[in-house]
Amino acid sequence: MGNFKIALIPGDGIGPEIVNGAVIVLNKIAEKYNHEFDYSEVYMGGCAIDKFGTSLPQESINKCLASDSVLLGAVGGPKWDGVSAEIRPETGLLGIRKALGLYSNLRPSILKPQLADASPLKYEKIKDGLNVMVVRELTGGIYFGKKERDGDNWASDEEKYTYEEIERIARVAFNNAMLRNKRVVSVDKANVLESSRLWRKIVTDISKEYPDVTLSHMYVDNAAMQLAINPAQFDVILTSNIFGDILSDLSSAIAGSIGMLPSASLGASKRGMYEPIHGSAPDIAGMDMANPIATIISAAMMLDISFGLHDEAKAINNAVDKVLEEGFRTPDIMSDGMKKVGTKEMAALIAERI
Ligand code: IPM
Ligand code: MG
Repeated sequence: MGNFKIALIPGDGIGPEIVNGAVIVLNKIAEKYNHEFDYSEVYMGGCAIDKFGTSLPQESINKCLASDSVLLGAVGGPKWDGVSAEIRPETGLLGIRKALGLYSNLRPSILKPQLADASPLKYEKIKDGLNVMVVRELTGGIYFGKKERDGDNWASDEEKYTYEEIERIARVAFNNAMLRNKRVVSVDKANVLESSRLWRKIVTDISKEYPDVTLSHMYVDNAAMQLAINPAQFDVILTSNIFGDILSDLSSAIAGSIGMLPSASLGASKRGMYEPIHGSAPDIAGMDMANPIATIISAAMMLDISFGLHDEAKAINNAVDKVLEEGFRTPDIMSDGMKKVGTKEMAALIAERI
């Protein structure tokens, strides 16, 4: 039996509903496997702007630092589009990643056979399945580079990477590949960008320490095309913050629904932050329509990676597969002949099957 402190960041839009869904499932795990999960709720994003005037209050950072791991729903929405850049919900999200030192972001895209219909790609392209892991650098590059602005005359954002930043994320990718099919495609724009040329050199140097892993390089424009025309060629994609942001939306979309895919943000310690890849979907907030599966599988990743509870993580993933096999679907993955359910019912069905 274990005792774990979990910081919950419900956030905005559908965030609270999907995090509730994950808590229903976590509670079932606690009961069945005799663990104790202590939750503390943390304000971040638009809701924190409304309450405290900033998207990331210091107290929220402290609560996350005092936890064993963080589970996040989603932040942001049109309500806060007009607020100044320093306090935007997205700035809070970038800030908490940085404050917790979470430099690597794992975004697995797995096409479940039960959902082959939901992929926008032709059956021919996905018939052999799809299992891509995007390893995105998360606390460097242009999202954190120097920002400058001269009124409406000009603005600039700087893309800068250091040796250390590239080396540590490259290791994450190679270590992941060792547990998978041992192939890494490093994605950059080395035909144009100096930062990409450094990226490519360092990734190539580090790869020599992983002789079992096959490394290749791809320009980001080609990588986007290859994901659309032949996604089965990829095992691990290693890339920078901005390219990973873009390519992971694409890789998740071809796997059926962005509502299905989890992510883990990790640093040097065991503490991670786990969140669905999708956003806060304000248009369906509060309507019990959102798909909680990405958040529920994110919670499973937390058990697996941060808490070492491998059987428990497997139990959650098996329960999700079972519910899908039985034909239950939230609206985003609904197809003919299936049974439509809401957020709460989907979470309850998964919990029941653990
Ligand atoms: C993501 C999101 C965030 C990012 C935004 C909301 C800041 O798009 O997690 O992919 O760009 O990292
Ligand atoms: Mg994104």
